[in-house]
Amino acid sequence: MRDATLVLRAALPGDVDGIARVARTRGDRLVGLEDRLSAWVRDDERVVVVACRAAETDRGVGDEVVGWSSASRMSGHDDAPDGWYVSSLTVDPAWRRRGAGDRLLAAVVAATSVRSPVLRSIVNATNLPSLDLHAAHAFVEEARGSSFAGITFLGGEGVLLRRQRDDHAAPPAPDVRDMLGA
Ligand SMILES: CC(C)(COP(=O)(O)OP(=O)(O)OC[C@H]1O[C@@H](n2cnc3c(N)ncnc32)[C@H](O)[C@@H]1OP(=O)(O)O)[C@@H](O)C(=O)NCCC(=O)NCCS
Repeated sequence: MRDATLVLRAALPGDVDGIARVARTRGDRLVGLEDRLSAWVRDDERVVVVACRAAETDRGVGDEVVGWSSASRMSGHDDAPDGWYVSSLTVDPAWRRRGAGDRLLAAVVAATSVRSPVLRSIVNATNLPSLDLHAAHAFVEEARGSSFAGITFLGGEGVLLRRQRDDHAAPPAPDVRDMLGA
């Protein structure tokens, strides 16, 4: 069920701790994560978006990051084409199945489509929720293999997904348009 209280926006430097918390729900060790995220949210060559819920904080009502995603240009890998790739798409387990992942991926698609007609994503072949979500956003399978862009997969197989920009598509949803400042 879609949660209308979730707000989607471009990430700000003050979101780093919230993003790191959500990123760590995936269970990876992620050494140096906060420093990397601080650089990412300030990098004009990278897209970082967050989904937030309203929350009480020490300073009054603020918002709390419950999901995030990123995208950037990758190049120079023998096992994957150069170009823009989605990465880090993650929703806090307590906030899944409420439309946050859908809106995060829509936002990444919209933010990258002004920079490139092609967007790719690399997904573990066993990750059916993520494959379903990407299919709903017009990503199609380009290849299957044991490694893409140096990424290997638990279970052994990954899927390289490719999305071609649709130049006749309807404009993005209002929250995504706001985020893009359009
Ligand atoms: C994949 C992930 C981001 C989805 O986030 P989410 O907020 O739960 O997704 P949404 O509620 O927006 O769901 C959108 C669509 O994704 C698919 N989906 C999401 N969770 C699913 C699940 N558990 N089983 C099957 N399909 C699922 C469905 O197609 C769903 O549409 P529907 O609700 O109309 O059926 C989330 O499960 C997650 O963070 N997983 C761990 C990290 C990860 O695997 N990231 C992807 C790496 S490539």
